[in-house]
Amino acid sequence: MEATRAQTFLMIPGPTPVPDEILQECARQLIGHRSEDFSQCIEQVLEDLKWLGETKEAPMLFTASGTGAMEASICNVINKGDKVLSLVCGSFGERFAKVAEAFGAQVERLRVANGEAIDADTVAEKMKDQSFKAVTVTHNETSTGVINDLEKIAKVVKAAGALILVDAVTSFGATKLPIDEWKLDMVFTGSQKALMLPPGLSLLYVSKEAWQAYEKCTTPRFYFDLGKYRKFQAEQTTPFTPAVSLMRALQKSLQMMKGEGKDQIFARHLHLRDLLRSQSKDMGFGLFVKEEWASPSVTALVPPDGITVPEIRKELKQKYNIIVANAQDDLKDKVFRVGHMGYMFEREIGMTLFALKQIVAQKKSVTDKVQALK
Ligand SMILES: Cc1ncc(COP(=O)(O)O)c(C=O)c1O
Repeated sequence: MEATRAQTFLMIPGPTPVPDEILQECARQLIGHRSEDFSQCIEQVLEDLKWLGETKEAPMLFTASGTGAMEASICNVINKGDKVLSLVCGSFGERFAKVAEAFGAQVERLRVANGEAIDADTVAEKMKDQSFKAVTVTHNETSTGVINDLEKIAKVVKAAGALILVDAVTSFGATKLPIDEWKLDMVFTGSQKALMLPPGLSLLYVSKEAWQAYEKCTTPRFYFDLGKYRKFQAEQTTPFTPAVSLMRALQKSLQMMKGEGKDQIFARHLHLRDLLRSQSKDMGFGLFVKEEWASPSVTALVPPDGITVPEIRKELKQKYNIIVANAQDDLKDKVFRVGHMGYMFEREIGMTLFALKQIVAQKKSVTDKVQALK
């Protein structure tokens, strides 16, 4: 029997494993999206999302992946020609900048090397004598495994009078993100990450200040026009046919999250990160990101000498049915990424570490034998 027939350990930074209870929810017969039952589902989901985001304002829900919400965060507040500062520490920060450019913003990038975080003081310096309408920031840069100090960055941006637009796709639900306390204007995520759902839903929190900018924004948009969502949401419904099954699944996942508790969830993510980092380091793997910037949801590892990223990924899949992600762009085949967000426990990290240890030892043993024959 082959390992690939065993249960998959999906250790990538999204889509993440979905609990059985949630999968069952997705498999239920549909209900009408204008029904009383569905309105109740929306009402509950919005309440729970206020709890999770520590905010008084319920988010807008889209039938789209995270990038859809990213687009909505731009096209509802940014006018053609507006100056936008994009903080870029990896591929997703760059995507955010490109979306702003696609809608005609004058984008300036504050870029740091892969594996590094954005420094709030440098942001302050950059904003000192230039006025930006908005700043885009990736809270957790999934392409490198870096978490930015969003609280500090937000303080600087708000002090400079700009809107702060936050990509929280791989941080929301995995780490502390009190939207109101940190005065964040737009915060979005997608369903397939720490919310433990299949892909297809995204949500976007909008502050009062962002709504004021919305009123003055003339950028063409239709499907992602926030005003439509706000109007229908007030009646516990949606402007277009929503992903009914995913919404009911979201209700279930939020119920599970409330059961565990926010602090416990965040502590679990930190624990898994630390376990993975310390033990993989002991096994000879390099940690791509310094401790102070290490993401709670995804870790980038550098293989020890003598084994490559493609070899590791292939062996993990073939022998253990464990899937980890390659890196992207310049980092491809140099580091690999292990996701540990959402429905993740010591069991998954332990299995992954064990498999990595075996694979490295096996490779070394073969190399040693070949050397001995020379
Ligand atoms: C930080 C970040 N932003 C944006 C996205 C894009 O989300 P989606 O693929 O759901 O459109 C991702 C996806 O992994 C991400 O990790």
